[in-house]
Amino acid sequence: MCRSLSKYGIFFLFLALTGLIFLLRNIHTLESLNCRTVSTLYKLQSRIHSAFTPERTPPFYHNHTFCGHLGQKPSPEDELEERYLLDSIAWPEPLTRPMPPPLRQTSDPVHSLFAILPTKEGREWHVGDQLEVLVQMHDFQGRPKRYGGDFLLARLHSPELGAGVAGDVLDHRNGFYSAVFPLLWMGSALIEITLVHSSEAVAVLRRLREERPDRVFFKSLFRSGFLSETTLCNMCLPPDEQPLCNYTDPHTGEPWYCYKPKMLSCDTRINHAKGGYQKHLITNKEALLFQSGVNIKAHIHASGPDRINVLPPKKDQLGMESSSTKPEPIKVTPSGYYYGGSWRPLGGVTMRQFNDSSAITQCLRGKVINMYGDSTVRQWFEYLNAFVPELKEFNLHSPKNVGPFMAVDSTHNILLKYRCHGPPIRFSTVTSNELHYISNELDGLPGGPDTVVVLSIWAHFSTFPVEIYIRRLRHIRRALVRLLDRAPGTLVVIRSANLQAIDQEVSLYNSDWFSLQLNSVLRAMFKGLDILLVDAWQMSLAHHLPHALHPPPAIVKNMIDMLLSFVCPDKKKHQQN
Ligand SMILES: *[C@@H]1O[C@H](CO)[C@@H](O)[C@H](O)[C@H]1NC(C)=O
Ligand SMILES: *[C@@H]1O[C@H](CO)[C@@H](O)[C@H](O)[C@H]1NC(C)=O
Ligand SMILES: *[C@@H]1O[C@H](CO)[C@@H](O)[C@H](O)[C@H]1NC(C)=O
Repeated sequence: MCRSLSKYGIFFLFLALTGLIFLLRNIHTLESLNCRTVSTLYKLQSRIHSAFTPERTPPFYHNHTFCGHLGQKPSPEDELEERYLLDSIAWPEPLTRPMPPPLRQTSDPVHSLFAILPTKEGREWHVGDQLEVLVQMHDFQGRPKRYGGDFLLARLHSPELGAGVAGDVLDHRNGFYSAVFPLLWMGSALIEITLVHSSEAVAVLRRLREERPDRVFFKSLFRSGFLSETTLCNMCLPPDEQPLCNYTDPHTGEPWYCYKPKMLSCDTRINHAKGGYQKHLITNKEALLFQSGVNIKAHIHASGPDRINVLPPKKDQLGMESSSTKPEPIKVTPSGYYYGGSWRPLGGVTMRQFNDSSAITQCLRGKVINMYGDSTVRQWFEYLNAFVPELKEFNLHSPKNVGPFMAVDSTHNILLKYRCHGPPIRFSTVTSNELHYISNELDGLPGGPDTVVVLSIWAHFSTFPVEIYIRRLRHIRRALVRLLDRAPGTLVVIRSANLQAIDQEVSLYNSDWFSLQLNSVLRAMFKGLDILLVDAWQMSLAHHLPHALHPPPAIVKNMIDMLLSFVCPDKKKHQQN
């Protein structure tokens, strides 16, 4: 940014600019402008360009309402929905002062324990039962925690069977947590409880989310003729610092701003790119709450056995209704589980396996598949493109990893497309004219029974208050409702967020806690619509492979099988239901 230049820098810049303007004014008269002069001009230009590169960014508005309400004011109904959604993801705050407390008073996975309930010996477990596990959190001094808010993950798995299922975690807000698992297969099953973040660390993340939406920043290059400048951009910028370019989308009202370049007009914006990550976001004391292997994604041990043996279903459970008089405390139904390394969805669709490319080609024959979103759905495009030799990528000369991308199988009339979502997309460099909002793209689709829409939008929203995400999904939802209205046969599939590998640095921008919250909002906002969900969250949680922003192929294969099972449902089984 200009402000970061020293006095001398500004002076030299002024000299350089004067020279450049002088040259520009004379260009028309210099008929025989030789190559050397041109290249000098380009060098000059790139020096000016780099002088404007945002190295140090300005302090930000630390104001709760600033970012969320920049842009159109939501209607009363929208505000009501927003209130409801925010309430539904309310997270208990640590009941302690000062914040953060000393590390020794914060949750410590080593001192914390879990136990299978009931703790007395002799309980038998059958397929169809529920397993409940009680977790008690302690601090680093071994004292029991008295308040909730820790972020725990629970998994039940049988490595030798390739089986795994996510557990439901219930926060009793007194240092105790219940993890509940349905028992879905026979054999020995192992319980795994992981502390992702202590409640004290979550409080830090929450503060960052509300107060530092600038912690990932963006930039745009402006260019006209020989002049170019780079300025800082974001969803919201302090308006009184310097003039802004307002790129608010005319269709949706989605806000986006850049600082106005000094010499160029706002309509000379060439591209959009991730600018970088703000450093020094947390104090040294807060940093202690984010130690890999200590209090980030560390396992909690069992006080007694950490495994059970699951027996075949009991006779009376086969008849289902017979036990309905007995009240079940909490009935958990995960969206699916792994068995033999394959995902088995519970309820709805029957999973089919697409092990060879010809099965995929048969399924997608005659279809147009439009993928929109972040790199986690681009990964699906890449998987299909690599796995199905008949699908030939059409060279659109798009930048690597950015797109848009297109693959065609003209024999089977298959068209597969990928396009990234609009700002705040954190990709390297997207040209301004490829910067499209998903809802506007959907409005441009005719749709129909041969159209498949696949969306994944979550990873680049974790640095913003949840209101921003709600507003974006609302626009997408409206566009989907219009699409399904005008073309009822259109198949819409949404890929949810998944777990990632996190250390201290990644946590501050992309923690699974942010994703967890966005995921709840995502599920709630598309509930009741004719839209299918691939539960990437549970598919990454239940699997034995390590968490990764871009899940390993074994998981992606299951996700693609799920997608294709939606596109080409098993006819026989479908008719039985
Ligand atoms: C946040 O900013 C808005 C708009 O600039 C202002 O009206 C409001 O009073 C501010 N709130 C706080 C808590 O500073
Ligand atoms: C940007 O433009 C939008 C739509 O034209 C308008 O509603 C909004 O107030 C503008 N923002 C600023 C900061 O002027
Ligand atoms: C696909 O491969 C898996 C694992 O190798 C196998 O268990 C399954 O039966 C195969 N399914 C089909 C339809 O070929």
